[in-house]
Amino acid sequence: MSLLGRHILSIDQFDRQELESLLEIAKTLEPVAKRKMRCDVLRGAVMANLFFEASTRTRLSFHTAFARLGGSVISTVGFTFSSISKGESLGDTARVIAGYADAIVMRHPDIGSVATFAKDIHIPVINAGDGAGEHPSQALLDYYTINKEFKRLGKTIDGMHIAMVGDLKHGRTIHSLCKLLQRFDNICFHFIAPDMLRIPNNIIQMLKQSGHQVFEYGDLAEGLAGVDVVYATRMQKERFTQAGDDLTGYSENLRINCQAIEQYAEDDVIIMHPLPRDSREGVYDLSEDLDDMSQLAIFRQADNGVTMRMALFACVLGVEKTIGQYLTPNKAFVPERYSSKDADFYQID
Ligand code: NCD
Repeated sequence: MSLLGRHILSIDQFDRQELESLLEIAKTLEPVAKRKMRCDVLRGAVMANLFFEASTRTRLSFHTAFARLGGSVISTVGFTFSSISKGESLGDTARVIAGYADAIVMRHPDIGSVATFAKDIHIPVINAGDGAGEHPSQALLDYYTINKEFKRLGKTIDGMHIAMVGDLKHGRTIHSLCKLLQRFDNICFHFIAPDMLRIPNNIIQMLKQSGHQVFEYGDLAEGLAGVDVVYATRMQKERFTQAGDDLTGYSENLRINCQAIEQYAEDDVIIMHPLPRDSREGVYDLSEDLDDMSQLAIFRQADNGVTMRMALFACVLGVEKTIGQYLTPNKAFVPERYSSKDADFYQID
């Protein structure tokens, strides 16, 4: 596989073999993400982190990933402090930043904007979310997470059953993950959403054409039965633009909580969410009453973002084969686990 110098704009650009190779590279970097080892294979390199939409995990984990490989990061957040607010085109901004940085990460509210930005420049650009479009690095870290959790349980992605719950219409993490899973065999997708926020038809067609089974449900009882993974998502209200984008049918009945998991799902189900979960009053996002369950993988999933994003940087900058030469033991303090709520099996090393 060579991702050398390539933009990462859509998960569609990866075939199964490339996904599996990337996973292997990520595994070699896990001790660095978990702070057991240090690595400075990108010493002296600069990454530009451009975020024109809200972000905590994606922005900070891309930054962390580059820093943990020894590189440094320049950044801009929001339109206000960028010259785009003075009318500069994405193309001009891109050309300027290409003169400063070795790699660029960008999030923007408009579908296709990151591709427009990347079009003429020869510095690798990674799409960190373009509106309701795609979020390829999230799909990759979700893939890494499912793979890792399944290894512990002796399961495989081929043949798995996955339930996706919430705002399936606007959720770019859902769109990218479906495109990634399409590369595997015989997956059974359970889509659970209010009528107005159903998964787009083109995704259903794509999955069926690749030989997968697709079922749609309006409630959890049937939708969660027999699944290996539950992937919950937030209502993306900021993307409700068209007539028909409303919350009709979104109720407590669609909330993934302890009771729903215990009543409808298998004991070893893995519970995922790209985060942030909306914990405000009157919102039915993934419940905090799940926080003590070891099946809740959401924070392990967020941690995996650093590992997978390190692998992406290593590949687009062509240093993935020399990582081993740049590893040294970390002598600084690292706790046994990050939080007292982490599951017993989740040791940092
Ligand atoms: C998601 C995003 O921004 O698409 N979060 C993330 O990147 N981890 C999901 C969301 O905002 O709901």
